[in-house]
Amino acid sequence: MSVNIDELAKRLETQVLEDARGVFSETVIEYAYNPRNVGEISDADGVGKVTGTCGDTLQIQIRVEDGRIRESRFITDGCGTSIACGSMLTEMITDKTIEKALAITSDDLLRSLDGLPEEYIHCSVLAVNVLREAIADYRELRSNKQTT
Ligand code: FES
Repeated sequence: MSVNIDELAKRLETQVLEDARGVFSETVIEYAYNPRNVGEISDADGVGKVTGTCGDTLQIQIRVEDGRIRESRFITDGCGTSIACGSMLTEMITDKTIEKALAITSDDLLRSLDGLPEEYIHCSVLAVNVLREAIADYRELRSNKQTT
């Protein structure tokens, strides 16, 4: 019997997607499978990087102009949910003022993703904590520049 590897991979992918649909919202699946803003910014104004209790690390970088986040990117070695969270959160903060971005809670992120199963809620908390660290880093770098 000959096995077509491409066909097998396709069937496997379809199965994985079907399984995911039983657990996650379409929005989570869309943002996990087609992530936005993945990568790094070479001249970032702020960087946040946190390893969660699950052992996964998420990094978010922001570029700020006139008090607004003009660009943000994320990378993670974590689960599909952390990809969906980084993806959605970086989209949510684009063009927001620092204050508005800082006011975003993990509940806001959960609502934007149309919810997460209980056991993955910590991924959204991790993402929001990383963003807060990136903003704290931005503020610290800025105040250091002002004092030099
Ligand atoms: S970020 Fe670790 S399980 Fe999702």
